[in-house]
Amino acid sequence: MRKGWILVSMIICAGLLLASGILTAADFPSDIVIDGKTYKKDIKGPVNFAHAKHAGEYEAQCEDCHHNYVDGKNTWQTGDDVQKCSTCHDVEKSEGNVKKLMMAFHNNCQGCHEGKIKEGKKAPDKKCETCHK
Ligand code: HEC
Ligand code: HEC
Ligand code: HEC
Ligand code: HEC
Repeated sequence: MRKGWILVSMIICAGLLLASGILTAADFPSDIVIDGKTYKKDIKGPVNFAHAKHAGEYEAQCEDCHHNYVDGKNTWQTGDDVQKCSTCHDVEKSEGNVKKLMMAFHNNCQGCHEGKIKEGKKAPDKKCETCHK
């Protein structure tokens, strides 16, 4: 019952954001194929990522994945531009806290999944095939 209401309010919120022009359908792709064409070797191939499901049903916040650090603090807010992860995370090498692209993805995706499992919540394991089909 409670879950149902949370879902209903999220749908209403998304509707309001859409109607107010903060979010547009074009701004928010619902399914994304993450395909780093820039890797020297594309060993594992593209990853199908359920963007809308994560932000909705799975209750992930935009800020869990999108960021813009100023003085070490994430200042990114809904409505701000979203740049590709590869804009800042180099494919070849890490620089300090800015890990190279593959690590940025693995730390973000698997980091959250593992955290959820530790909390006893539902999340997928880290088998390669979970994400790399
Ligand atoms: C669980 C992680 C996650 C969550 C939560 C999430 N996103 Fe994303 N989003 C991504 C990833 C990954 C991409 C693809 C980035 C890339 O290709 O480099 C993306 C892409 C986008 C893009 C398209 C960027 C482009 O130019 O292709 C927009 C816009 C966006 N997200 C907005 C949002 C908003 C708004 C929210 C919250 C309602 C949100 N995202 C929640 C991970 C997430
Ligand atoms: C505008 C540049 C920029 C973009 C775009 C960007 N990052 Fe980052 N990211 C950074 C910087 C800078 C840090 C280091 C922050 C710090 O600790 O000082 C960072 C840190 C991280 C971290 C570790 C800390 C944390 O906040 O989780 C992960 C994981 C990460 N990025 C993944 C991603 C993913 C996945 C995407 C795309 C959805 C992305 N980044 C897009 C600049 C960026
Ligand atoms: C903030 C937390 C969080 C982040 C970040 C996150 N996920 Fe998830 N993800 C979840 C949760 C929670 C579930 C399980 C929900 C369920 O089964 O009820 C899930 C499920 C999945 C699933 C299995 C179900 C499905 O929809 O396909 C895949 C695959 C997946 N995530 C891939 C990714 C990828 C790829 C990324 C990084 C781009 C990512 N996730 C980032 C929380 C997260
Ligand atoms: C939770 C999701 C997830 C899991 C589990 C996962 N990966 Fe990834 N991985 C990604 C994402 C997202 C990317 C970025 C894809 C891109 O940019 O093409 C990536 C990129 C990569 C890349 C660099 C791009 C390429 O194809 O060469 C390699 C190599 C890789 N992963 C290996 C692995 C291996 C090996 C495992 C299992 C031990 C694994 N991954 C498990 C999500 C995952």
